[in-house]
Amino acid sequence: MRYAIVYVSTANKNLEKAEIKKILSSSKKWNNENDVTGLLLFSEGNFFQIIEGEKKIITDLFKNINADDRHHNILQIFGKDIHREAYDGYEADFVSDEAYFDPEKFQHYLNQIKVLDNPSQKAVENILKAFLIY
Ligand SMILES: Cc1cc2nc3c(=O)[nH]c(=O)nc-3n(C[C@H](O)[C@H](O)[C@H](O)COP(=O)(O)O)c2cc1C
Repeated sequence: MRYAIVYVSTANKNLEKAEIKKILSSSKKWNNENDVTGLLLFSEGNFFQIIEGEKKIITDLFKNINADDRHHNILQIFGKDIHREAYDGYEADFVSDEAYFDPEKFQHYLNQIKVLDNPSQKAVENILKAFLIY
């Protein structure tokens, strides 16, 4: 059974840019090695993440993430069973330096969430829009 969790969180104030890049790159590496797909974005002091994969792997990973003191205000948007196989790898990106909304990138991110059912896709799309534009 595959499972997906989507959440947003606030990065700790003292978190250096280099530390954030390290989180993004180590997550990408571990997730790709463990068949975890999804998206991790950092923008304006906040994280937005989708993790999708084998249920136990995802719930254990989320416990780790929850306990990580590099961020707080972890707000889970949903956690649900997924009935379609993921088809893409893991994306980790820094969007804070983007002064404008890049439709191509947005479309690319949307492709990452195609494993979700329609209402969930819509919800994530709206959050992504808010996350990337403001
Ligand atoms: C916002 C955020 C997102 C993270 N996402 C992942 C992730 O997707 N995959 C991952 O392996 N670690 C991720 N981590 C790091 C984990 O919290 C944790 O450090 C990692 O699982 C290693 O745990 P361990 O030191 O107990 O082995 C994330 C950390 C933060 C702050």
